[in-house]
Amino acid sequence: MPSERTRSNPPAPGLPASSEVIVSGIQPSGALHFGNYFGALRQHIQLHKTHEAWYFIVNYHTLTTLRDRDKLRRYTLDVALDYLALGFDPEAACLFAQSDVPEVTELAWIFNNLTTVSQLEKGVAYKDKVAQGLAPNAGLLTYPVLQAADILIYGGTLVPVGADQKQHIEMTRVLAERFNRTYCLEDDPVFPVPEPWILSDVAVVPGLDGRKMSKSYDNAIGIFEEGKALRKKVMGIVTDSTPLEAPKDPERDHVFTLIRLFADEETRTRITEAYRAGGYGYGHAKKELLRLVDEHFAEARLRRKDLARRPDDVLDVLREGGRKARERACEYMERVRERVGLITTYRDAP
Ligand code: TRP
Repeated sequence: MPSERTRSNPPAPGLPASSEVIVSGIQPSGALHFGNYFGALRQHIQLHKTHEAWYFIVNYHTLTTLRDRDKLRRYTLDVALDYLALGFDPEAACLFAQSDVPEVTELAWIFNNLTTVSQLEKGVAYKDKVAQGLAPNAGLLTYPVLQAADILIYGGTLVPVGADQKQHIEMTRVLAERFNRTYCLEDDPVFPVPEPWILSDVAVVPGLDGRKMSKSYDNAIGIFEEGKALRKKVMGIVTDSTPLEAPKDPERDHVFTLIRLFADEETRTRITEAYRAGGYGYGHAKKELLRLVDEHFAEARLRRKDLARRPDDVLDVLREGGRKARERACEYMERVRERVGLITTYRDAP
């Protein structure tokens, strides 16, 4: 049953209008997993050749939780490797490190002053941390403001993200509107008001324990895990204790939920029928899932191994992407400063 769809989310296999400016960010907080892939990355790769697209690795955001310089650097490059391995073509769109566009923090500062603390305290990610009894830092509180700056500084109109990002995009929309209303004439706004692009059929990718797949639950399967390690994880996915001979309900099984993400229509139907017929055990399903995963990522794994031997080429991609992104961001910032009344003496005429 299709759950709610976001307004701009066209029915599959529809694509967004070609005029949309696609922007999205991904956290370099460790190995990317199936949840990241089906929630965001797959859509990023899918859209970047047909649309103007800006994808950034949000290392400033990751500072809210990571204080290890070596890890931050490594994870950032790893995400770039993952994108390239999964088919991102640097000739077609921009992939870059958020920190190559420091202007984004300037815009975030300006947005901070258009945001009330009480709005930020309603942030789900922030509330989560508070509920866990942690003392969140100020970066975590203003995280959504930086995210809004990320999106708006390139004039983004459509943001492909996982369902968990809905609130952040809503805050971005509020900020775009508030900035325009505060500083611009009605017929000459600086920022477009972006829409989220959320695929509802992949709203939740289950992890090994059946909860939402998440690095923080330690239940994730990495996109580039393979061999024994992958096998061990897949075989360890929790299932119920329905005996092998008994018919099973695929809709209530996490293994099947994962199978459905990887399988084509025909395979899906075949496995659904096998579940319902009985005599088909979770072990069979897990083997099928393994095969599907291996097949799906076979090419990407090879590409990644090859790229990993050429770190300079990966850095070149980020460098070139960062240069273009900064240029674009600076154009927006010039207008922003002018509207806000920030003097830039090195540019302003005497
Ligand atoms: N908050 C996003 C996440 O955790 C990452 C992110 C940062 C992002 N800036 C963004 C996503 C801008 C989309 C657009 O997944």
